[in-house]
Order: sequence, then structure tokens, then C-alpha cells
Amino acid sequence: MSKLRSQEWFQQPDYYGFARRAWLRSEGFNRDIFDGRPVIGICNSWSELNNCNAHLRTVAEAVKRGVWAAGGLPLEFPTISLGEMYMRPTTMLYRNLMAMDVEESIRANPIDGVVLLCGCDKTTPAQLMGCASADIPAIVVPGGPMLSGQWRNQRLGSGTDGRKLFDLFRTGKLSEEAWEEVEGCISRSAGHCTVMGTASTMTSLAEALGMTLTGCANIPAPDSRRLAIAEKSGTRIVDLVKEDLRPSRIMTKQALENAIIVDMAIGGSTNAVVHLLAIAGRLGINLHLDEFDAISRRTPYIANIKPSGAYLMEDFFYAGGLPAVMRELLPMLHADCLTVTGKTIAENVENTECHNREVIRTLADPLHPEGGTIVLRGNLAPDGAVLKQTAASPRLLRHRGPAYVFESNAEMLAQIDREDLPVTKDSVLVMKNCGPKGGPGFPEWGHIPLPRVLLNQGVDDVVRISDARMSGTSFGTVVLHVAPEAAIGGPLALVRSGDTIELNAESRSLTLCVAGEELGRRRASFVQPAPKYDRGYGQLFLEHVTQANLGCDFDFLKAK
Ligand code: FES
Repeated sequence: MSKLRSQEWFQQPDYYGFARRAWLRSEGFNRDIFDGRPVIGICNSWSELNNCNAHLRTVAEAVKRGVWAAGGLPLEFPTISLGEMYMRPTTMLYRNLMAMDVEESIRANPIDGVVLLCGCDKTTPAQLMGCASADIPAIVVPGGPMLSGQWRNQRLGSGTDGRKLFDLFRTGKLSEEAWEEVEGCISRSAGHCTVMGTASTMTSLAEALGMTLTGCANIPAPDSRRLAIAEKSGTRIVDLVKEDLRPSRIMTKQALENAIIVDMAIGGSTNAVVHLLAIAGRLGINLHLDEFDAISRRTPYIANIKPSGAYLMEDFFYAGGLPAVMRELLPMLHADCLTVTGKTIAENVENTECHNREVIRTLADPLHPEGGTIVLRGNLAPDGAVLKQTAASPRLLRHRGPAYVFESNAEMLAQIDREDLPVTKDSVLVMKNCGPKGGPGFPEWGHIPLPRVLLNQGVDDVVRISDARMSGTSFGTVVLHVAPEAAIGGPLALVRSGDTIELNAESRSLTLCVAGEELGRRRASFVQPAPKYDRGYGQLFLEHVTQANLGCDFDFLKAK
């Protein structure tokens, strides 16, 4: 083992070496902790303002057991946590802030390796981005998904079933009492959402990237195996320090391609596209939006999990979870990618079995011949847009219809339940100014609710287009991440109600059927909205955030 980083703090012969040892001993440690053992930071995104991560202190205790047993010194530290349900205007505004917090907390402190405790949507990519930039040995331990929701005789999957039941409540088909009951049993434990939303997607992709122990991502939060693997991860990080195995050797271009293949096969959240682009940027790896689509075209969707499929994360875990998916995908993956286990992907999963072929299909019998997410282009989205085709209505994947435009999310919310809203089942709902700068912060507003007037007619989906993101738990024919966004004058800003829009998922096109001359006239009269912040972090965000197709990281945080 080469000289440890922590020794620069604790082994100096000067006054400050003494002072650092003395001050750390104020926490009740004996002098033998300075015997040259690795110091392991436990980067904890625990918070009571983030229910999904509220159990992570217990997980941290298990990690510490492992670190002590392996001869390391565990020191837990907090960072900002991002509670998806609570933060305004959106956690995405703060993903980069958390990534900076993680990076600088690692870099500034006397630690030789770090265990990253995450769970809720943005906490995983923020930690991966931060540790990619800091680049000391690191291992990810997600908190795991919640227990499945259970209401009467119905199993409920977080936002996916919550939204469906809300539509019944909105239209008077579900009583107030029943709706209250649902509130009490849809989220039954600590842990993140129970479907293949952004949290389950990103924790699964952390495993696909090689940054967790095998099988770590999907163990339910309350399951005793969650703590057992946390302890094992604590043991393993001490070895990772001794081996000097850093994130930059694990998260390579090939590992990112593996993550994209897995994302497509599990029907992962559309948000994964933005986060993987940002992680690649931190590593100095060239990754282009079109690579997602190329991989999507050749990767079958095989994990039958809501919102694209029928089952929940608990079922996925019992069926074999991510290792079973990766075993199935092995012929398509870069099987020799190194992981934090010290072994390759192939070595990690080659003996894995699938226990339920209804939940995890074979490549020969997929749920869909292509991957979950596709990338669209056209004059409405010159820099791309995304659509989760496996969660869309097949009949709408080729559609031509008249636009009905909302200039903002606020305007949409004010109008969506109007009984006289002039929309039909063929309308294309367009919402502007919800992108990285326009939202601001790129909020998850893209799942525009179905207008009440259409719900009353029994319409269950229409094409919706915006420059927003969407919760990974959502579903429907929803085009997202349109770039460039409306707030900076992207073509989306020029759409008017009544214009014809054409979506063709097969040819990956999104077309605003308006003559170029007319669009030129509209562009000449475009007025950029005033910035939403004029000070502080918000202003920093607006000045430096990149567009969706570039990952929405700050321009100055990309690796040089
Ligand atoms: Fe945290 Fe869904 S709200 S994962």
C-alpha cells in the first residue's frame, strides 16, 4: 500500500499533526487509530427531510462495522440531501450543488476512501458525479427501495399507481375516505420509490457501472440483507484503498455503455440520460445523446417493472434483480469491465440465476424489441428530446395532431381542469419554459395531467411535449427534455395553439409542421423571459447550467 492521503493530516511532525490527532481524539478515540490505518469517509445523505434516505444512519452503522473489522477508521460526514417530494422548485436545481458538496467534502478532508450512502432520485447521481471528480477509492451503498405499497387487496407502486388513483379521485370515482386510506399505505417503509423510477434506475446503474457490490442496488430497505451488504461494503472499501482502485478506473466509457444498455433493458427513467451525460462529463468521457438511441435500438426491454411493466421493485429483487438482468445481457455488455468487487462484470454475474421469468424476461422473449428510452430529433428539437416508448401508448407513437399550448406550468395548472378547454383526444399538449433555465432547475413537470374534459370522455393518454423532465414513476406518451429549451429561444418557444405537430417514434422524429418563413417571423418577435434569480446559488445555476442534451451540469465542473 502506498502512502495514505490521511497521513498528510495525522502523521506530520509539526504542531498541526499534533493538533489534528488531539482534536480527533476528542471524539473518544485512542491513540492507536493513528497507526497508519486507512481513514474511510462515510458520505451520508441521511435527512428527515428526505424520507427515502431516512434510514441511512442505520446503514452507516453497518458500514462502520465492516470498516472497523477490516482495520480501517470510519468517519461519517453529512452532505446536503435532496428529498424529491419536498424541495422547491425541484431537486434538480440542487443536484449540482450536492455534487459539489460531495466532491469538496471528500477533497478537503483527511480520508483515503469513501462510502457513498444514497437512495432518493438525485442523491445517487450527485454522489457519483462528486466522487468521479474527487477520484479517491469509492463504493456506493444505496438505501434500497421501500416495501411495496399495499391497499386493501391491491399492490401499489409509488407514483405510478398514486397518479392513476388520483385521476379516479379527481373525477369522483374514488371516495375521499378511500383516497385517505391510500395515503396511509402507499409508502410503507423507509427506502426509495417502489417502481423503476429514477431512484431505482440510478441505484441500478451505479451497480451496472461497477460502483456497488454485486446485488446491492435492489435489496429492499427494511430487509436484513441491506445491512449485511452495507457491512460487506465497509470491509471492501478498506481493500479498495489498499489496491488504490479509483472511480476513474471503474467508470470508463465502456462502463458507461454498459450502464446505458442496462438502462434500456430495465426500462429506466428518462432522467438517467441526463445524469449519465453529467457523470461522463465529470470523467472527461465523450458521451453523446445519439449513443443512447443507438443502444436503445439494439437492446430489448426485459425487466417487467412499473411504470413500463407490471411488477414492483420487491418482485424484481426476488426474481434475481440487477445481477439476473446483467447475466441475461452479458453477450451485449463489455463483460471485462472492472468493478469495485475487484472482479469483472462477467465474473460477478456469471453464476446468477433468474427465479421468475415473468419479471425478468430472456433476450429471446423480451417485452419490447427495443430499449425503454428513445431520442427524437427534428425542427422542434434540433438538439434532441427523449420519450419513454415502453411507458407510452402504442397507438400514439405515430401521431399527427393540433397543438394546444401552455406558456408555462402555472398556466397549465390554472387551465387543465377547465370544462371548456378546447382539446380533443388528438390534441398535442405543449408546455413551455420548464427547462434548465426556464423552470428554473429543469423540474419534473413534463407529465402534464390529462385535462378533466378528456378524462370525463374516457381518454387515457394524449401526446404531451415540453422542455421539462418527468418523474421516473410516470407514464404516458410524454416527450421530454426538448432542447434547446424555450426560455433560450429554442423552437419550442415558437409553437402556437393550432399548429400541427407530428411525432414518429419509429423514425425518431418530432416535427413542427409550420413553414420556415413563418417560424422566422415568430423568432424575430421572441422575447426572452426575465431570469428567475438575480443573486445567490440560483443565479450561479442560471449562468452555468448546460442544456439537457449535455447533462445539465455546470460548465465549469466538466473535467478539463
Ligand atoms: Fe425519493 Fe421517489 S421520492 S425516490
